[in-house]
Amino acid sequence: MLVSAKEMLTKAKAGHYAVGQFNINNLEWTKSILLTAQELNSPVILGVSEGAGKYMAGYKTVVGMVNGMLEELNITVPVALHLDHGSYEGCLKCIEAGFSSIMFDGSHYPIEENVAKTKELVAICNEKGMSLEAEVGSIGGEEDGVVGMGEVADPKECKAIADLGVTMLAAGIGNIHGKYPANWKGLSFETLDAIQQLTGDMPLVLHGGTGIPADMIKKAISLGVAKINVNTECQLAFADATRKYIEAGKDLEGKGFDPRKLLAPGAEAIKATVKEKMELFGSVGKA
Ligand code: 13P
Repeated sequence: MLVSAKEMLTKAKAGHYAVGQFNINNLEWTKSILLTAQELNSPVILGVSEGAGKYMAGYKTVVGMVNGMLEELNITVPVALHLDHGSYEGCLKCIEAGFSSIMFDGSHYPIEENVAKTKELVAICNEKGMSLEAEVGSIGGEEDGVVGMGEVADPKECKAIADLGVTMLAAGIGNIHGKYPANWKGLSFETLDAIQQLTGDMPLVLHGGTGIPADMIKKAISLGVAKINVNTECQLAFADATRKYIEAGKDLEGKGFDPRKLLAPGAEAIKATVKEKMELFGSVGKA
């Protein structure tokens, strides 16, 4: 059964480790993440972007697929199904479809509007026993070939949003989705520290988990980060393994063209990436 992310993240913050959110894009991806979490006895959060939700034929399809896998693969570790960077409307759809967790990304609204919309969603999530992630300060990333550096959140705004009763808080601290540019200045630990001082026990979320050096990840966890999102690294691992399989000519030999065979190396590569991240985040054995 899917669970809210609240308990796993409260435990992670208290225990000084982080739970990974791994974004899913298809069946192979989902299966690889769930099997790895079970094998390592780690809690896990499956992230679904609005685009990936659409690609997988809608949120209800995703809920059906994940619930089916939990049962058929005998997954007993805590699993949350979480909307990643949701719009207000997307959040409502996922609540309706049976997700156990949502992120409302109101970071592009003026703070008053972010507060008002977050408040409404907090009330609904509390009633349904779901977890809610809010965001303050936008996360940078590549758009049309230009890498935006991302904002650094105002710790006072973080406190204002945390006080609304959200479960976890994503704050921009110089992190970027996708690959980091060569001139990246690194994470602002000063900001993270100030946010943690003001928000206390609130589990903090680090987006853009791909390509952040291990020492920075560990320092972020020591300063209150309890959830780390990873997407691009799984995509790169999947694409690279698939490309190598095709380049080796294996897709043309025997039954190598069978989609189950063609996608198997990518699925294995995702397992390896997820394992590496769970070990780095310290969530192994914490289910
Ligand atoms: P990366 O794509 O950089 O791993 O970031 C993932 C993320 O933060 C999803 O919200």
